[in-house]
Amino acid sequence: EAKYTVVLIRHGESEWNQKNLFCGWFDADLSETGLKEAQTAGKLLKEKGFTFDVAFTSVLKRAIKTLYYVQEELDLHWIPVYRHWRLNERHYGGLQGLNKSETAAKYGEAQVKIWRRSYDTPPPALEDGDERYDTSDRKYIQYDHVVVPRCECLKDTVDRFMPYWHDVIVPVVKAKREYELNTDMLNVPLTYLESGQRVVISAHGNSLRALVKYLDNIPDSEITELNIPTAIPLVYELDAKMKPIRHYYLADEETVKAAQAKVASQGTVKK
Ligand code: 3PG
Repeated sequence: EAKYTVVLIRHGESEWNQKNLFCGWFDADLSETGLKEAQTAGKLLKEKGFTFDVAFTSVLKRAIKTLYYVQEELDLHWIPVYRHWRLNERHYGGLQGLNKSETAAKYGEAQVKIWRRSYDTPPPALEDGDERYDTSDRKYIQYDHVVVPRCECLKDTVDRFMPYWHDVIVPVVKAKREYELNTDMLNVPLTYLESGQRVVISAHGNSLRALVKYLDNIPDSEITELNIPTAIPLVYELDAKMKPIRHYYLADEETVKAAQAKVASQGTVKK
């Protein structure tokens, strides 16, 4: 029986998605299209009756702004929003800033697919002196150390996202809602009252692949086929132990398939 609902949303199209550049931890803004996609996602969530008690996002503006436009549509500006680098996109290392189809033309589509979708093959690492390896970014100076990686494969992303899921997000999902304290004043069934906090997570293609891999227990060899489209809400219904019972996108199958195919094709040579 479903007890909790968590909605995942990949940010709308970014300016670097639009130019088809490997982005990772580069803080690209939303494109005009991406902004509209985020608004559309918010409208859809509202239309389907979704609302949220708490939101989580990365420290990258494309996810933060997507969340904001969703909040705007749902009139939820007031809910707590927690931002953390552990929800960031996978760090694309030496590929950051390169065009995906040009990279496919140079190294082959198979190699690009390995870099983009394999579980444990990392992209080339950034070296000292590379201006893309910026250890002075205030977003990533945590107490006495810097958390910027030189590159990440999906496994690295799983390893830094999942502790945040288990230690921070899950306890929040399971926490009772404030108004549940007044159960005798609310004329609604107790099961509903026990259903915990409604959480939305606005993140990135690969940080969400990391989470989905864990939730659905997808083997390393099959995660290569999973593509998450921009700004289509992905709803997970979970049982009391936070095991998924079902998940679905808030769009018809054809729309989702086309959007996923579009993401996959970003790594192919343009004819
Ligand atoms: C990026 O970081 O370039 C994208 O947001 C995700 O890229 P991918 O679909 O090529 O992994």
